[in-house]
Amino acid sequence: MSTVSRELSVVVCGAPPTSEVRALIRLAQQRLWAVRVVPTPDALSFVDATVLEAMTGHKVEVGYRSPSDARPPRPDAVVVAPASFNTVNKSALGITDTHALGVIAEAIGRRVPVVMVPWVNEPLAAREPFRRSIAQLRDEGVYVLLRGEHPAEPFGVENSDVGDFPWERALDIADRSADSPNPTE
Ligand SMILES: Cc1cc2nc3c(=O)[nH]c(=O)nc-3n(C[C@H](O)[C@H](O)[C@H](O)COP(=O)(O)O)c2cc1C
Repeated sequence: MSTVSRELSVVVCGAPPTSEVRALIRLAQQRLWAVRVVPTPDALSFVDATVLEAMTGHKVEVGYRSPSDARPPRPDAVVVAPASFNTVNKSALGITDTHALGVIAEAIGRRVPVVMVPWVNEPLAAREPFRRSIAQLRDEGVYVLLRGEHPAEPFGVENSDVGDFPWERALDIADRSADSPNPTE
């Protein structure tokens, strides 16, 4: 019988696709990932934490743990989906004022695969700091998944439908990347 051996941390932000994250959890569990959900504080109003805890068997990790709490296992991959404008920019700058940002920052530093799917509207997508953030995150090895090519643009801009959010593509990338990891200790 197969056993779960890989840990996936799923960071969700304060944006509408977060209410559909159960789709990603189901897919990941079918592929034998053990899943932990790490919502930003603003993501909490988009999810039912009790349902996510029942699905994953783990408390959703909103705040930093107490120093006396056991350290959760280190993830083998991190999917940040949807990634808000705020979280994309803060991640690029290395800010860790939420637990979710801390998970992203550590994973990047350890060379653990991080897949990020920004979901922002046109005015935010047009901002220069956002474009710089994506370039910086890619420079650090983060896989930033955008929609289309020439020009690639974030999901969430005009004609985006939450129902078309690319959960499976994000997981495919995490799967592939975790199969050829390059972690640092
Ligand atoms: C109903 C609602 C929808 C929102 N949709 C988005 C969105 O699609 N993309 C985005 O970047 N921010 C969106 N926001 C704003 C973010 O929730 C806000 O910037 C928040 O500070 C993000 O914090 P986080 O990155 O820690 O999750 C939305 C807020 C609300 C209340």
